[in-house]
Amino acid sequence: MKIVIPGGTGQVGTLLARSFAKDGHDVVVLSRGQSKAGQWRIVSWDAASLGSWTAELEGAAAVINLAGRNVNCRYTAENRRLIMDSRVNSARIVGEAIARCNRPPRVWLQASTATIYAHRFDAPNDEVTGIMGGSEPNAPDTWRFSIDVATSWESAAKAIELRHTRRVLLRSAITFNPDHGSAFDILLRLVRFGLGGTSGNGRQFVSWIHETDFIRAVAWLIRNDSIEGAVNLAAPNPVQNEEFMRTLREEWGTKIGLPSPEWLLELGALFIRTETELLLKSRRVAPGILTAQDFHFKYPTWREAARDLCERWRDLNRANFNLRD
Ligand SMILES: NC(=O)c1ccc[n+]([C@@H]2O[C@H](COP(=O)([O-])OP(=O)(O)OC[C@H]3O[C@@H](n4cnc5c(N)ncnc54)[C@H](OP(=O)(O)O)[C@@H]3O)[C@@H](O)[C@H]2O)c1
Repeated sequence: MKIVIPGGTGQVGTLLARSFAKDGHDVVVLSRGQSKAGQWRIVSWDAASLGSWTAELEGAAAVINLAGRNVNCRYTAENRRLIMDSRVNSARIVGEAIARCNRPPRVWLQASTATIYAHRFDAPNDEVTGIMGGSEPNAPDTWRFSIDVATSWESAAKAIELRHTRRVLLRSAITFNPDHGSAFDILLRLVRFGLGGTSGNGRQFVSWIHETDFIRAVAWLIRNDSIEGAVNLAAPNPVQNEEFMRTLREEWGTKIGLPSPEWLLELGALFIRTETELLLKSRRVAPGILTAQDFHFKYPTWREAARDLCERWRDLNRANFNLRD
């Protein structure tokens, strides 16, 4: 089948494109860069207006829109504008392009984020009973901004009427894969250098999804015609940060992990030009729809996921290890 992935040159898009292409599907990635042929085709677009790229959507089985300025940065006024506009505009234009198709794609999977839910400890947020974030007392302004982005993004994707295309909003937790430069690679670097202790008070929940389950869930959502609307993509067993970091240290095989109090994290984030939201906000997300539909997670617990990711990270970096040893 033909699968079109706007914004598919990034971390998550590369995982999906690689996997779908390997399974013999016709993958087309839309990028603001140059068009080119390769393992899968890359077609140029500007992520904001209609153009010749829209022809790629005709007769496609699925469109998976992942476009958006990376959020791993300081939330300056300019970055906030880019983060918001790139998501809202690309969702709007993909919706418009689908609405104009003669043979519209059967399904549109639109990236959203599990960050849309409230910072909470008491119960997990599923798609039905979850509490939307934004009105938590004392929530930092950066957290509120992320929730504004997520809600505006989802609204833009829902705004256009589509009669023949099923629409799914992917409320994803952080996707972990061992590739160089990935979120897991960065997290493991802290552990490797003895800095992988508890972050803040360690009570905050961490939700994640292993790349294998992320890819399988996306494929399942493409196949499963009965699913529409918001779907949480997260492993079913989020754990608190203290346990999350301890498990990762154990699976990596180190006893040392200096804890990072909140003030130190803020200082470090300032230094490396990012925000602490990812570490300090309590993300307790339950994959309500996937679980209710008997979707089987290959990595339902953090220990299983961390073990696999550490092993594969070692395999990928073995040459470097030997050099260092
Ligand atoms: N990674 C995760 O764990 C995770 C979790 C939850 C939600 N998400 C969401 O899922 C989507 C994909 O995640 P990702 O990690 O693969 O992101 P990513 O690595 O940052 O890639 C996003 C892609 O968007 C395009 N892009 C960047 N800036 C843009 C702009 N100003 N306007 C239009 N397009 C722009 C880029 O493609 P070109 O430069 O080729 O155009 C880039 O490859 C993102 O929207 C992210 O917020 C990701």
